[in-house]
Amino acid sequence: MGKDVIVACDFSSKEQVFTFLDKFTGRKPFVKIGMELYYAEGPEIVRQIKARGHKIFLDLKLHDIPNTVKKAMAVLSGLDVDMCNVHAAGTSAMMRAALEGLTRPDGSRPLLIAVTQLTSTDEDSMRRELLIDRPLDQVVMSYAQTAKEAGLDGVVCSPLEAGKVHQACGDGFVTVTPGVRFADGDVGDQKRVTTPEKARELDSDYIVVGRPITAAADPVAAYERCVKEFVG
Ligand code: C5P
Repeated sequence: MGKDVIVACDFSSKEQVFTFLDKFTGRKPFVKIGMELYYAEGPEIVRQIKARGHKIFLDLKLHDIPNTVKKAMAVLSGLDVDMCNVHAAGTSAMMRAALEGLTRPDGSRPLLIAVTQLTSTDEDSMRRELLIDRPLDQVVMSYAQTAKEAGLDGVVCSPLEAGKVHQACGDGFVTVTPGVRFADGDVGDQKRVTTPEKARELDSDYIVVGRPITAAADPVAAYERCVKEFVG
């Protein structure tokens, strides 16, 4: 699996995201477009960033009945992104429907990965509100296995879980891991963080990095540092 750094472009307008991306005159980073930017600017922002030569992870975390997700994925498939995602909690029927919708007539499709449990959900809220009694790491592993059996390509998880996911689901099953900070940087609201170098040791395939790059005084230097530490 080729390792790469995905830059989380958590901006609320195209002006902001283009001001940021204009700084990258050499290498074109793999970009994550989340709900904020997508809902603010619509599908055109995806086309425009793609036209600038970036790979795109469209992080919209779909979760609905299988038929709705299938049709929505067929629309997203036309945007020619490289990676998109669903919630594993939608169950394997929904994940299989997502794959069907995403697959183009020629058989090609973007990578499809599953969100297991959000990092904002802890064991206490899982037990009280979702009525799930198992330890969080067991739940994450079980969701990953269900995603694998449904035919998905990987999961979003913590770098700390990447090795276990590979053991359970195979080396080819992609781990996309947020929660990355430089050793000398601010942690912010992320709880369990690792450095890019540590994420590489832990066998993560893609790290998703937002504020350590987007809020850096020199974003290009911060990106290059991330690539150097993670990819080598
Ligand atoms: O700025 P920061 O590096 O914390 O950004 C991390 C990105 O990864 C954000 O876009 C955040 O929404 C996303 N993410 C996360 N934890 C998850 C899933 C996604 O931080 N479990």
